[in-house]
Amino acid sequence: MASTNLPRDSFGSKFGVVAASAGSAIGLGNIWRFPYVVGENGGGAFLLIYLAFIITIGLPVMLSEFTIGRKAQRNAFGSFRKLAPKSYWPLVGLMGIIAAFAILAFYSTIAGWTLEYIINSVSNSFAGNDPEVIFENFKSGTFRPILWQLIFMIMTAWIVFSGVKHGIERYTKILMPFLLLLIIIMCIRSLTLDGAAEGVEFLFRPDFSKISWPVILKALGQAAFSLSIGMGTLITYGSYINKKENLTKTAIQVSAADTIIAVLAGVMIFPAVFALGFQPDDGPGLVFVVLPGLFLEMPGGYVFSIIFFVLLAVAALTSTVSVLEVVVAYFSEELNISRKRATVIAASSIWVLGIFATLSFSDLSGFKILDKTIFDLLEYFAANMLLPLGAMLIVIFLGWHLGYKKTRLEITNEGLFKGRMFGVYFFIIKFIAPIAIALVFLYGIGLINF
Ligand code: TRP
Repeated sequence: MASTNLPRDSFGSKFGVVAASAGSAIGLGNIWRFPYVVGENGGGAFLLIYLAFIITIGLPVMLSEFTIGRKAQRNAFGSFRKLAPKSYWPLVGLMGIIAAFAILAFYSTIAGWTLEYIINSVSNSFAGNDPEVIFENFKSGTFRPILWQLIFMIMTAWIVFSGVKHGIERYTKILMPFLLLLIIIMCIRSLTLDGAAEGVEFLFRPDFSKISWPVILKALGQAAFSLSIGMGTLITYGSYINKKENLTKTAIQVSAADTIIAVLAGVMIFPAVFALGFQPDDGPGLVFVVLPGLFLEMPGGYVFSIIFFVLLAVAALTSTVSVLEVVVAYFSEELNISRKRATVIAASSIWVLGIFATLSFSDLSGFKILDKTIFDLLEYFAANMLLPLGAMLIVIFLGWHLGYKKTRLEITNEGLFKGRMFGVYFFIIKFIAPIAIALVFLYGIGLINF
């Protein structure tokens, strides 16, 4: 058992571990991104490939991150330094810290939008207006999007500031069941609309003619982003998991919860889209343009609009918390400052970077680099480069550096569990996952083109 000099904060219960980790995984990736990516890439066939990746790649990588974190009992950087001293491996952790900065900067832009949309829903301001115009006017502004982003960062910082047990665990234990309730209400509403069946069919009927290499790779990228892997988020959370917990079971539960919510997001959105005669493949605007229009025509739409955007904000919040925690754990442990001070420094510097992401949509976005906005650059850099590279290096670290024996001991709690599937898992992380992820990476940076 790893002994530490400092008393380290940790999760206090099994449910807390799952709630916090599922809270990280379930976010804008599930509810904002997943439905439009499915919509653009052929529905059910994409879903099938996505599910295959979750099970064969996502789940093993998630388990690997938990394993590294719990074994080392440190932040993402410190974990590598402890398990592989005097090597270059800690750079993987550092990469994760940088990715966290980048992801939170652009993620908090969209998260801030959800707050504006809660207010719009409550004040019924979609009525009589074109949702497209509302969306364009809002996101091209300066003051309001930045203010919402700030408010979102303050909410995130408050939870992280309060600690692992008394902040992250406490809030996610309340928010995650709440989120599940909201999404079930929304699904029932959507499925009971006349003509809902067409949307259900669209989501589940595989159309393999749409499948191509880029689509397959997109499914893998979406799976990784959705499960929060590749950045040390789950290393950091893993370091707060009790030595008695079953990591394999936890990883299975979290992956299952993430997948179920993504599918439910599809079930909530597509039947409504089809029933009211909208188009399923409307890109990132699906949630902020199509849905408001849809709520206007739906019986009870006023209430369901509020529920939906609250749901979106809650999902985003438990995710932004997990990203900020990566940076805060690093600052406080490696620079030896208090959690509270680390939170203030991390959150405010990320917000400043985030302003540039938000302004990317404004009329002020004169600063384009290589013809790309800061938002696009951050998203591209983090999602297409740092995350796949991080996930690949993490499994290579376990498979080729830490090795079979030590990994097995940590995962089976020193031999307490039989670990019947361990051989399969280890084969995947040693050979299959690195190669599969490498393909995504090469595609992501454009070295392979289809
Ligand atoms: N998984 C979250 C979502 O689906 C986003 C997220 C949180 C994330 N932490 C992460 C993505 C770490 C990548 C890495 O919205």
